[in-house]
Amino acid sequence: MANQLAIFLGELIRRPTQVVALAPSSVALSEEMAAQVPQGDGAVVELGPGTGKITTALLNTGVPAKDLHLFELNPVFVSHLQAEFPGVAVHEDRAENASTYVNGPVKAVVSGLPLLSMPYEVQQAIVGGAFDLMGSDGRYIQFTYGPKPPVNERLRGELGLTWSKSRKIWGNLPPARVYTFTRQGN
Ligand SMILES: C[S@@+](CC[C@H](N)C(=O)[O-])C[C@H]1O[C@@H](n2cnc3c(N)ncnc32)[C@H](O)[C@@H]1O
Repeated sequence: MANQLAIFLGELIRRPTQVVALAPSSVALSEEMAAQVPQGDGAVVELGPGTGKITTALLNTGVPAKDLHLFELNPVFVSHLQAEFPGVAVHEDRAENASTYVNGPVKAVVSGLPLLSMPYEVQQAIVGGAFDLMGSDGRYIQFTYGPKPPVNERLRGELGLTWSKSRKIWGNLPPARVYTFTRQGN
């Protein structure tokens, strides 16, 4: 645990524009993210897992390790994830490329990415790619510290997204909410 925090803070200092968070997600936020994943068969893709707080919650809620695919671009986090989570597919690549590795059916994409700080085209590749990967009833699950839905407004319109949001999780640093996006009609 202390090791995880040290790795996270070291990478925050080294690559602040990629990590973009003061601390790893809390257990409460990670559990709220994992609780949005539907039960039943299907793979789960996690984007930007960092040191794996949300990964742990996903495994604890019963997602089998063999059904979990992680996409993380930071090689230090990737080494840590590979050591911590045997049996989970850890891809050292950008979230934008997830669809080139995973063959469906994917039931949910869970994102710890700093999505709103990314340019529109990158968000489009990530969120559009996530919905291409999932069936029409897939869920894109994303936390945010801010007051607005964490997907660009224009992109929400283009993809026909609707969403629900969780209560505010005050125990997280900073406090955060979980948004679950689906395509209209689902
Ligand atoms: C805010 S941290 C979240 C870490 C972890 N999910 C958590 O909640 O504690 C963002 C993570 O996204 C990763 N990241 C940023 N841009 C990425 C991209 N384009 N593709 C994959 N990972 C990315 C960073 O390296 C970092 O691990």
